[in-house]
Amino acid sequence: MTVVYHEADANPSLLDGKRVSLIGYGHLGRPLAWNLRDSGITVTIGVRDLENENARLARDDGFAVADIGDTMRQADIAFLLLADDALPDVFVHEIAPQLRRGQTLVFASGYNLKYGLVEPPTLVDVGVLAPRSMPDMVRQSYQDGSGFYCMMSVHQDITGGCREQLLALAHALGALKAGVVELTTAQETELDLFLQQAILPAVAHLLLRAGELLMGYGYPVEAVILDLYISGELNDFILRASQEGLLHALSQATRTAQYGFLSRMERMKDLDIDRFLEGILRELRGDAFVREWTKDVQAGYTRLNALLREQRNNNLWQKEEETIAALRGDS
Ligand SMILES: NC(=O)c1ccc[n+]([C@@H]2O[C@H](COP(=O)([O-])OP(=O)(O)OC[C@H]3O[C@@H](n4cnc5c(N)ncnc54)[C@H](OP(=O)(O)O)[C@@H]3O)[C@@H](O)[C@H]2O)c1
Repeated sequence: MTVVYHEADANPSLLDGKRVSLIGYGHLGRPLAWNLRDSGITVTIGVRDLENENARLARDDGFAVADIGDTMRQADIAFLLLADDALPDVFVHEIAPQLRRGQTLVFASGYNLKYGLVEPPTLVDVGVLAPRSMPDMVRQSYQDGSGFYCMMSVHQDITGGCREQLLALAHALGALKAGVVELTTAQETELDLFLQQAILPAVAHLLLRAGELLMGYGYPVEAVILDLYISGELNDFILRASQEGLLHALSQATRTAQYGFLSRMERMKDLDIDRFLEGILRELRGDAFVREWTKDVQAGYTRLNALLREQRNNNLWQKEEETIAALRGDS
C-alpha cells in the first residue's frame, strides 16, 4: 500500500535548533531556500565558488553563504541541490570528508544513489525529497498555499529518525500541503526518468510530426502551432485530468470529441508503443542508460551538444518563436 503523507503526519518542531544547509543555489536550490526561510528555518547556502553569479545572488537574497566544506561541517541537515552529473565528484572531494555521525543528507533526486554514483558512508541518515514540480512552481505554490507534490524515500536510516526528519523538512518546504508519496530510491529514480525519456519525448515527437504534416497540407503555421499546444487547450486537458482524473476530463468534452478521442485511441493499440516503453524502462531498471550518460558526461557532453545543435537547426523553432511573438502582439 502506497503511503501518502500530509501536514498532519509531520512534526515540524523536529527542525527546532537544527542547522539546515542547502548545497547549491541553482534552479531548485533558490526556491527551496526561500520556502524554508519563510517557514522560519535559518538556512546556510554552500557554493563551489564564493564569487560566482549564483553565490552573489544568494547573498543578495539575504542568505549566509559559505564554501561547500564549511557549510557541510556546520550542518545537521544538508540538502544536496547540485546538478546530478556534477554531484559524484563534489561528493567525494568536498562533502564526504566533512560527514559526521548523525547528520542527515537529503537528495532532490535518487539518481546518484540508485546507480551507485554516490555512496554515503553508514554514519549518516540519507533520504530523498524529490519535488514533482518545476522550480518556479515550487515557490509559487508555497506562496499561494497550495503546496507541491513530492516523492520521498528513506534510503539509509542510521538514527531511526530519518523518515520523521524528512517529513519535518517536507513540511517546512511546503510539500506536505499538496502531498508526499513514499517509495524506494530506485522507484523514485526510475519513475522520474521514465517520464523524461518515454512520455515527454513521445508527446514532443507527436506534436512535431503533426506540425510538419499539417503545414505540409497547407494549414497556416500560426494556426497549427496555436491549435497544437500554444492555445493551452492541451495543458487544460492534462491539468483537469491531474486534478480530477482522466475520465472526468474527457466527460467535460463534447460528445463528438469523446467519440473521436475514444474510437481513435483504439487505433493506437496497433502501434508498437509497448516495445518503445518497455525498452526505456529496461534501460532504466538496469544500467544501460546510466552507463551511456556517464560516458557522455566524461566526454564533455559531446552527444548532448550534438543533439541540441541538431534541434536548433530545425526551422520550426524559428516559426514557433515568431508565432508566439505574433500572438502576443509584439511588433
Ligand atoms: N530543476 C528541476 O526542475 C528539478 C526538479 C526536481 C528535482 N530536481 C533535482 O534538484 C537537484 C538540483 O537540480 P537543479 O535543476 O537545481 O540543478 P542546476 O540548477 O543545474 O545546478 C544546481 C547547482 O549545481 C552547481 N553545479 C553545477 N555544476 C557543478 C560542478 N561541476 N561543480 C560544482 N557545482 C556544480 C551549480 O553551481 P553554480 O551555482 O556555481 O553554477 C548550481 O548551484 C538535482 O538533484 C535535480 O535532479 C530538479
